[in-house]
Amino acid sequence: MITAELEFPNYSLLPYEKRFAIGELMNLLKARDVRVGAKTVTAKIPQNKLQDAYLLTYFRTLSINGKCTTLLQSSNEGTGGRQSTRYSTHGLHEYKGKFNPQTARHLIANLVPEDLPILDPFCGSGTTLVEAAHLGRIAEGWDMNPFAVHLANTKIKTLRLDPIEIEDNTDELVQSLKSKWSLPNTLDARLEYLLKWFRPQELCFFEELREKVGLFPKTKDFFLTIGSDLLRDYSQQEPGDLRIRRRHSPMPNENPKEVFLKRVQKEVLKLKRQHLSILKAQGKQNAYLVDSRKGRGSADLFGGAITSPPYFVALPYIDTQRLSLVWLGLSSPSEIRKLEASITGSREFRNSEERETHRKVENGVYLKWPKELRVAYDELVSRTEETSAGFRTQAMPALFARFFTDMAQTFNTVKSVVRRGGRFALVVGQNNVGKGHNTYAINTPELLALVGESQGWGIQEIIALDAYNRFSIHSKNSVKVEKLVILRRR
Ligand SMILES: C[S@@+](CC[C@H](N)C(=O)[O-])C[C@H]1O[C@@H](n2cnc3c(N)ncnc32)[C@H](O)[C@@H]1O
Repeated sequence: MITAELEFPNYSLLPYEKRFAIGELMNLLKARDVRVGAKTVTAKIPQNKLQDAYLLTYFRTLSINGKCTTLLQSSNEGTGGRQSTRYSTHGLHEYKGKFNPQTARHLIANLVPEDLPILDPFCGSGTTLVEAAHLGRIAEGWDMNPFAVHLANTKIKTLRLDPIEIEDNTDELVQSLKSKWSLPNTLDARLEYLLKWFRPQELCFFEELREKVGLFPKTKDFFLTIGSDLLRDYSQQEPGDLRIRRRHSPMPNENPKEVFLKRVQKEVLKLKRQHLSILKAQGKQNAYLVDSRKGRGSADLFGGAITSPPYFVALPYIDTQRLSLVWLGLSSPSEIRKLEASITGSREFRNSEERETHRKVENGVYLKWPKELRVAYDELVSRTEETSAGFRTQAMPALFARFFTDMAQTFNTVKSVVRRGGRFALVVGQNNVGKGHNTYAINTPELLALVGESQGWGIQEIIALDAYNRFSIHSKNSVKVEKLVILRRR
């Protein structure tokens, strides 16, 4: 056993992160005699485990006999006074409902055996996949949003790009953008749609960019992703708004070409700074356009699954990204609504789906639910009846029934591809429904755990991820109170 001193990061860890940090030492490095101080921890570590210190998430340095080594995660994050969540390629593009990358990394290293692949059945922008790459792990992501799949795969590809090559390509690309571009005389459905949301001068820039990046096959998706991240700022849609609302705030003063160049330079700088640690990006990681209720039909057996699923009445993931989806040619304007209504947690119903859901519940689907889910459903129904509910509130019981039925299917599908004993970790918050004094919380994490249990998973642990201190979140905003649900495949 060797006595080692480990230093916490420069920023203060949340209570659950501190618990995770100590857990990592004991679990990954088999540490004994762990003594926790304010800024450092000392522990005895078996000599043959020291090489695994690169797996640690919540320590900055490791010192043995006065020799100090900076750990991989710390070089990835940089040493600012705040926890960085945009390091590496995580900050390439905004995506609502992103995972905290440190949590994803911790879960990968601690819950899924080292030699087995990891699944994220709602991979979104690919946080789990990027962290899997940093750790040299094989991972697969599923998402129904074509933009999420594009973004996740671009983040993975970008990790392996040579920053010098990006710089060279950027110079050539910027030279080739002449600003004399004009739109074609006949407009297809895509351009017609975009012209409703952009002024011609800005749209010309984005269209020229989209064409010219074709000259750089390796860096094309990286450039397109940066371009996509600027779209909303230059659109006629209110940039900070999740839904489709016309712009009230003034257009940015800066020319989009200059902003594009600055953004590219910023990302290249991050890649350069992290080049050494990024060299660790090994293994295969891929995102696929897959409905997690159905799965991919592959014969792979995963060592475990890690995800942050959509909530019941989730964020409008498709609507929020609709300009990117159309600009990138990933979806036609006419498909957007259908896609939004079909994802898990959607607030939209298609045609007679709401009535059908009610009928299914009345015809006995309900009886197969865990008791607690029935109780929560009944309460929702009676509260909905009590209030002079608006359309959205009236639809709540049916949305609730559909969400948990959909999640039951996902639990079942994930079970069929995770090996026996494998874990399924879900980070999820509770939901607030209703308005004013009628607001009440639905305990989504506990209910999801019970639904998982009904599909063949054992409930191992439910841990509160207490984020109050860092974000000074008031408890009123209880959707921010997230829990980590850990299930084990029976
Ligand atoms: C909370 S987000 C995941 C965010 C992700 N952890 C990240 O860091 O970006 C949930 C994701 O689930 C996706 N989704 C919703 N229903 C789905 C389904 N049935 N199958 C696959 N993905 C789905 C949404 O498109 C969204 O990207």
